[in-house]
Amino acid sequence: MIPDEVVERVRDEADIVQIIGEHVPLKRVGSDYRGPCPFHQGTHQNFSVSPKKRMYYCFVCHAGGDVFTFLSKRLGMDWPSAVRLVAERSGIDVPSVESHRAGPDPRERLWEVTATAADYFRHMLWDDEGGQVAREYLASRGVDRATADRFGIGYAPSAIGLTRSHLQTLGFDDQRQIEAGLLSQPEEGREPRPRFRGRLIFPIFDGTGHTVGFGGRLLGPGDVKYVNSPESSIFAKRRLLYGLNWAKFAIRRDERLIVVEGYFDVVRLMAAGIESVVAPLGTALTAEQAELIARYTTQAVLIYDSDRAGLRATFRSADELLRRTVAVRVVTLPDGEDPDTYVRTHGREQLEAQLRAAVDVFERKIQILEQARWFRDLHHKRRAVDHLLPTIRAAADPILRDLYVSRASEASGVPKALLWREVGGEAVDDDLVARPGPVRPPVTSGVVGGGSGPPPARRAGARARPGRRGSGRTAAEREIVRWVVLARPELERVAEHIGPDDIHEPTLHAIFAAVLRRPDATADELRAALGPDAGAVLGAMLAEGPTGADPARAIDDSLARLREYDLAEQRREIDRHVSLASEDEKRALMAKKYDIMKDARRDRQNGR
Ligand code: CTP
Ligand code: MN
Repeated sequence: MIPDEVVERVRDEADIVQIIGEHVPLKRVGSDYRGPCPFHQGTHQNFSVSPKKRMYYCFVCHAGGDVFTFLSKRLGMDWPSAVRLVAERSGIDVPSVESHRAGPDPRERLWEVTATAADYFRHMLWDDEGGQVAREYLASRGVDRATADRFGIGYAPSAIGLTRSHLQTLGFDDQRQIEAGLLSQPEEGREPRPRFRGRLIFPIFDGTGHTVGFGGRLLGPGDVKYVNSPESSIFAKRRLLYGLNWAKFAIRRDERLIVVEGYFDVVRLMAAGIESVVAPLGTALTAEQAELIARYTTQAVLIYDSDRAGLRATFRSADELLRRTVAVRVVTLPDGEDPDTYVRTHGREQLEAQLRAAVDVFERKIQILEQARWFRDLHHKRRAVDHLLPTIRAAADPILRDLYVSRASEASGVPKALLWREVGGEAVDDDLVARPGPVRPPVTSGVVGGGSGPPPARRAGARARPGRRGSGRTAAEREIVRWVVLARPELERVAEHIGPDDIHEPTLHAIFAAVLRRPDATADELRAALGPDAGAVLGAMLAEGPTGADPARAIDDSLARLREYDLAEQRREIDRHVSLASEDEKRALMAKKYDIMKDARRDRQNGR
């Protein structure tokens, strides 16, 4: 007999398309492969192979099964031989019953230590006086005994040699405790020290239920909130998902998986009856974890903190999942809440409502970009699209990718054809794409980071930042406003050319707007209508008085300079937009740019 665990692993790792493809000519259709059915000698493309489900199925004769069924039916092999054949091709050792007896899994000796330690920690939590403080902490977090027992929660005593000598008595020497990550030895020859002391312990299990490590939480606030087991032959953080051993069946039943950040979140949700939930042991999902998830479901819901780091982890994790054709939706909890606190205060029903309201991760990105108004402003559109492209590229499911391109086009106004070109601009074969760079979306800088609404936009009409008094444009603005204040009859001439929105510097803008509103107001009346900053600037202008030049000449000069700045700005805008434009739009943009350059030249000639 071959252990189920091994059969499952062989099935998971087998390339079913490749193997069946050696017997049936297969063509890719969406995320599946189609060909003529070899079982009823069909000639149409009725036979479908799903790499996702690791199954094949014929729509006509209803033959179906996994890669082993295929080989045993097609080649007349017995089932164990089929498993062995496939295993061989994937480089997996299939222990026969004999060899299984002869040599157990070498990790067995470490699993034994960790399982024994987990028992001990549990005992320390409930049956020992020293566990009192941990029991109180657990109670303060609203976790009762039954729940704690379900997850095997324990307490690592703070006394330094306790766990070590207990394990030694049971025959686990220091070396083995070190290998299992329970002791750490800072230097050769020094006394090994316990890794977990005075902490609440969450045992971590692998998918098949072996105890492989621990997460230890401080009993209260403090530095290094969690300590986890070190990497070892049994504990590989990037391949483990906390909760998977319990969630396995619920994931298939619920046809979705919820990904949360931490131990308490998993415990809380499962205790509340939402059992298809796991947490990565870190922040974002790794490629390996995403691969693991893809074996169980095609639907993931991410609930991370809504802070900057949480959003970043959300988008990174989502890209990993999308690469594995897992669709990703996102729940955004109110600020400061995590799934643990949310369920604790609002209850299961409310969380279910949040889950139902989850939005597709791509839509979430678009929401954030829209809230920041990045699509409305030419300057940001390019960057907005750049933030969407990685997710579009990550979407390995061609249908989803197409939807994303449509949606991006709709949101940004950039034609689909052009977005497709950009999508193809980089390697699209997802397995070859290097880990995506840190997602530093606007998402983080614009919305979350600053929390201050739209990123500084500088389209015409927007206020320039104050404090850039020396800048050329501001100097021209000041000159115009000064003359308007000092030589009121010039106002008409100025107002013919510019409006208040053309004066960007905030204090100057305020003064100019005030003069336009009340052209007959005295200097004192104007001042009374202004805030302190603008008032001070007005005061300085009045003190300066009319200097030298002829007002009309000075104003014309400054207006020309302002116009030069505007034209240059418009040209830059066009350049930025051109890269996202369709051919038609591009022609129009180039014509516009040409006009602008002509205008600028004419201005210069008139000026001379
Ligand atoms: N984590 C970790 N090491 C840390 C901090 C966090 O391994 N130093 C992991 C843990 O798995 C933790 C998860 O990241 O559960 C989320 O961290 P955080 O949000 O800080 O903690 P919570 O799970 O909310 O824990 P608690 O509710 O106890 O504060
Ligand atoms: Mn928490």
